[in-house]
Amino acid sequence: MNALDQDVPRRQLDKLFLVLIVFWSLVIAGFAAWSYWRSYTATVGVARAFADESFSKNLIFRRWSSGHGGVYVQMTPETPPSPYLSDIPERDISTPSGKKLTLMNPAYMMRQIYELGKNDAGPKGHITSLNPIRPENAADEWEKRALRAFERGEKEVSAIEQVGDETYYRFMRPLFVEEGCLKCHARQGYKVGDVRGGISVSVPWTSYRERLRSDQIAHGLGYGAIWIIGIIGLVFGKTRLQSERKQTEEALRERTRELQCLHAVSTLERRHAQDAQQESEKIFATFLRLTPVYVYIKEVSSTESRVLRASDNFQQMIGIPGADMVGKTMAELFAPELAAKISADDWSVVSKGEAVTLEEELNGRSYTTIKFPIALEGRSLLAGYTIDVTERKRAEETLRQQSAELRIFDTAGVDRELVMIGLKQQVNALSRQLGQAAPYDVDFADAPPKDQL
Ligand code: HEC
Repeated sequence: MNALDQDVPRRQLDKLFLVLIVFWSLVIAGFAAWSYWRSYTATVGVARAFADESFSKNLIFRRWSSGHGGVYVQMTPETPPSPYLSDIPERDISTPSGKKLTLMNPAYMMRQIYELGKNDAGPKGHITSLNPIRPENAADEWEKRALRAFERGEKEVSAIEQVGDETYYRFMRPLFVEEGCLKCHARQGYKVGDVRGGISVSVPWTSYRERLRSDQIAHGLGYGAIWIIGIIGLVFGKTRLQSERKQTEEALRERTRELQCLHAVSTLERRHAQDAQQESEKIFATFLRLTPVYVYIKEVSSTESRVLRASDNFQQMIGIPGADMVGKTMAELFAPELAAKISADDWSVVSKGEAVTLEEELNGRSYTTIKFPIALEGRSLLAGYTIDVTERKRAEETLRQQSAELRIFDTAGVDRELVMIGLKQQVNALSRQLGQAAPYDVDFADAPPKDQL
């Protein structure tokens, strides 16, 4: 394994790791965005509920006021008679005790109420119209858009808007012309159901924004922590995978090294074995070439014997060198009768599993053969030694003849000796009869005949 091969899976692992990090980040970002959106909508929901409540209250005040066709209040410098009601009879009246009262229309009343709450942190109301009687009631840009939307049928408009230095949650609903409104607004051409204008409620967004921000921070920290835990897990997992991989690679290298080692050893051993085999083959071939004794090995079956190896000296016996005999059957090497006999002898040796010694004659020469079975890997093999005993046989024959002749002479000699001993004894006996000393020492023959033979 080279460095390049290792780089490929490592690069793949890096890629996978990157993909997982991106995936994990996206999941966390998704959850964070979802939770941000949820807390944002929840916060806006709270602001809206607040604005809605304020609007409803306004509406009730207005209804109350317009239900009375406006109400009379005491005239003060802060509450002058409305110039827009100048054509209304009895706009200004006096009580019997002389207190001066002036008619206050609902919008006027609401304006004063709004004026009172101006410095509070609470929602600020504004009554407005695209067609204001009182120029100061004119709508701002946002309100104008909202009012146009109401004319198209929209029921409610809201937005977070920067007004001056402050950010507000702005909320607006239309004011529809009702029966009671016509008293003062019929002049402008309104009929019941028209959009007269609207009330916009502006809720200072700062406190909500702060709450939202602290929510965001808490969520951000939470998701950040989860993200980091995930990343740490991924890094840890990657490191672990890499180290496991490294270990595996190390083990693989180790095994490969061992295998190479073993391979080298077995190659050496094989070479040794080959060498040994070559050597033994060489020795055997030399043996077959030089042996003075005829040597052979045959593969034997019940029907035929086939030469596997034979010594070179068969050239002398049958005129064929051992190397040329290899693979040949007895029938291919010898006369049919002899071949049949040899094959039968061979089979007998192999089937009985016993060695035999045979005397054989071939071309006027005598041989002694020892055959013995060789059991090798389930094959029926037979080995044999054949010694040329012609010379010895001839010598034996000569010796036998000479011995026979010697025995004839021997027998003749013994008889003569016995005759001579007999004659000597007769001479000795005659000498003693004559009173003379016996001239021959034949004591050995005088011993009692029983003991002698
Ligand atoms: C007593 C008379 C009177 C009645 C009743 C009355 N208004 Fe008005 N309204 C006025 C006058 C006068 C103004 C303008 C001066 C001001 O803002 O006080 C005004 C202003 C308004 C404005 C602010 C925009 C502008 O034109 O300056 C709206 C919106 C409005 N009225 C809607 C209504 C509706 C809706 C009703 C019925 C529910 C109603 N008014 C009933 C007299 C009346």
